[in-house]
Amino acid sequence: MAQPSVVRTGIGIVGAGPAGLMLSHLLALSGIDSIAVDTRTRTEIEHTHRAGILEPDSVRMLVDSGVSDRVLTEGHEHKGIDLRFDGISYRIDFQSLVGASTWLYPQTDVFIDLANARNRDEGDIRFGVTDTRVIDITSSTPGIRFTDEDGARREIRCDYLVGADGSRGICRHEVPEPQRQQYFREYPFAWFGILAHAPRSADELVYARSDRGFALISQRTDTVQRMYFQCDATEDVGQWSDDRIWNELQHRLAGEDGLRLAEGPIIEKAVLPFRSFVQEPMRYGRMLLAGDAAHTVPPTGAKGLNLALADVHVLAETLECAISKNDVDSLDQYTARALERVWKAQHFSYWMTTMLHRLDNAADFDDRRQLGELRSVVGSEAGSRYLAEAYTGWPVR
Ligand code: PHB
Repeated sequence: MAQPSVVRTGIGIVGAGPAGLMLSHLLALSGIDSIAVDTRTRTEIEHTHRAGILEPDSVRMLVDSGVSDRVLTEGHEHKGIDLRFDGISYRIDFQSLVGASTWLYPQTDVFIDLANARNRDEGDIRFGVTDTRVIDITSSTPGIRFTDEDGARREIRCDYLVGADGSRGICRHEVPEPQRQQYFREYPFAWFGILAHAPRSADELVYARSDRGFALISQRTDTVQRMYFQCDATEDVGQWSDDRIWNELQHRLAGEDGLRLAEGPIIEKAVLPFRSFVQEPMRYGRMLLAGDAAHTVPPTGAKGLNLALADVHVLAETLECAISKNDVDSLDQYTARALERVWKAQHFSYWMTTMLHRLDNAADFDDRRQLGELRSVVGSEAGSRYLAEAYTGWPVR
């Protein structure tokens, strides 16, 4: 096999989703060059539907670092959420509780803004590569080998390597077993996610607990809506006609206020996996993990993308420091700083999940206790404030 042609850069990044692109953007602002590679094409990533809620710090990061201010003009400010149970909606008012808002702005748009910004700034991003491997991660010049879109073998050599390659990525597996801990929590259910052509049913998000299981009403645009309902992890999308889906959602949202969802043709149906996962530490040798490559949260707390961006914020600072002082050991601060937020978010996502979802074998006691928990949250300012504070995100330390 022909020798790959080798290029040299400061930081080699595996994964050009939001985490990888944001990192390469922040590094460029500090004068550090990087190359990011991704096995997916740009079009594939643009069409992968993910969550849509940004914490205020994520919004600030996009705007203040000069990625784009489209989030402010095309995103929707949400000043709270509704928790709905026993057919009644209770407002958690983020503004009055913690003086913050979140923004509905889909991850696909965050990705498009970042990809455009990297293009504008002539960043080096290689989409659609194959056969990616990371090499020599404990040496002083780790590398990435891959085949580019034109079929040529390439090699990148760098000072530091970042695995921002998502929950199914290759990087985290490169850490030898004795050097890492993995923490899992599996849930006995999943989410059925839909996109539908329909008018809005609510101005902001509705998180609903019902005897038939959880449902979430979200939005995308004036004419396209995003909704989810709890389903079996093995649910077959093919068994769900549009009518059956709307019927299920209507039942889960029904209540004495007569709430009815506006229906319309469903343009996408998918069952979304659901688990909690953390790998520690987030550095091994000269490789650092960021975002879903190191941790996954269930989507109930809308934390996944926000955690990835928060990781990258800390990581850009840590890398700058390590490069300017030529001090590899200072990278250890990254794991400590990032994990503090990761575990808070793990707890919050787990808590929101278990408070709102139905377990098949739940005893009457569990049902009653769950309602008691929800009443404690909506019926007390202290309870509501914890939810508001965690949902809108913790400040970067
Ligand atoms: C979404 O709009 O896709 C969304 C919003 C909130 C969540 C999860 C997903 O908790």
